[in-house]
Amino acid sequence: MIVIDGRKTSVDLKNELKADIEHCRVATGKIPGLAMVLVGDNPSSQVYVRNKAKTCKEIGIGAKVIEMPDETPQEKLLEVVAGLNLDPDINGILVQQPLPSHIDEFTTTLAIDPSKDVDGFHPENLGQLLLGRLDNCFVSCTPFGILELLTRYGIETTGKHCVVVGRSDIVGKPMANLMLRKDDAANCTVTVCHSLTRELPFFTRHADILIVAIGNAGFITSDMVKPGAVVIDVGNNRIEDHDAKSGFRVVGDVDFRSVSAVASAMTPVPGGVGPMTIAMLMKNTVLSFKRMNALQGP
Ligand code: GUN
Repeated sequence: MIVIDGRKTSVDLKNELKADIEHCRVATGKIPGLAMVLVGDNPSSQVYVRNKAKTCKEIGIGAKVIEMPDETPQEKLLEVVAGLNLDPDINGILVQQPLPSHIDEFTTTLAIDPSKDVDGFHPENLGQLLLGRLDNCFVSCTPFGILELLTRYGIETTGKHCVVVGRSDIVGKPMANLMLRKDDAANCTVTVCHSLTRELPFFTRHADILIVAIGNAGFITSDMVKPGAVVIDVGNNRIEDHDAKSGFRVVGDVDFRSVSAVASAMTPVPGGVGPMTIAMLMKNTVLSFKRMNALQGP
């Protein structure tokens, strides 16, 4: 069984991006810039934004963090986004979610210029992805990171049955559309399942590539997996653990111990899909910089 190491792959990718950013700097005299807007004081969001800003600095991306109080009116947030849309030093904009309940997340997403939407949440970007126009859009970072892992580990996808468990706008829907594309790194037959799917094990047992993003600790057990399948675990669930200093540990949606006995390759949690997400945000920001400066690039 091959353990698909997202931690190592994310380090490789960040090192490649660092070199690429230096080439960009020499060619243009500028560096990519990512703006992150944080509204309110959600502790998890604060940690996420801090980690994203730290990664920017490590690889040479300019990070602009804009913190706004919890009671910020929606119009004020939209004004800030409009300013960032026009700022030539900013190539990527993300508004960290969740937002306070009086602010509409969809309205906020619509306000971001799609050509700076490095989260890939704007309907324009999702629409381009649906049409297979990857050269013309941004793909949501978690599914994009999974595609990168499958490619870098040489996982054969053409003609394979890919089953995606989860139908969220951020992971399940873009993931299914990525794997459905006419492309050597995709060309899958795709089935999308979710929490209300009847006879879910029937579908998961028919997967050559099983991608699970359902948010339920240890939900997929070995009897639900076809021998030899490639299993990708997007889960990030905290469970109580009295032996851990923090009182909890993080586990995936897949029962790693039992499934690792039947799968041919799988991602661990932690250290699988998670570390790839920030790395792909950096990749999208560099991609945006190159598009805005008409530079060649992957
Ligand atoms: N909240 C949790 N994950 C994400 C993400 O990838 N982007 C944004 N903007 N908010 C998030």
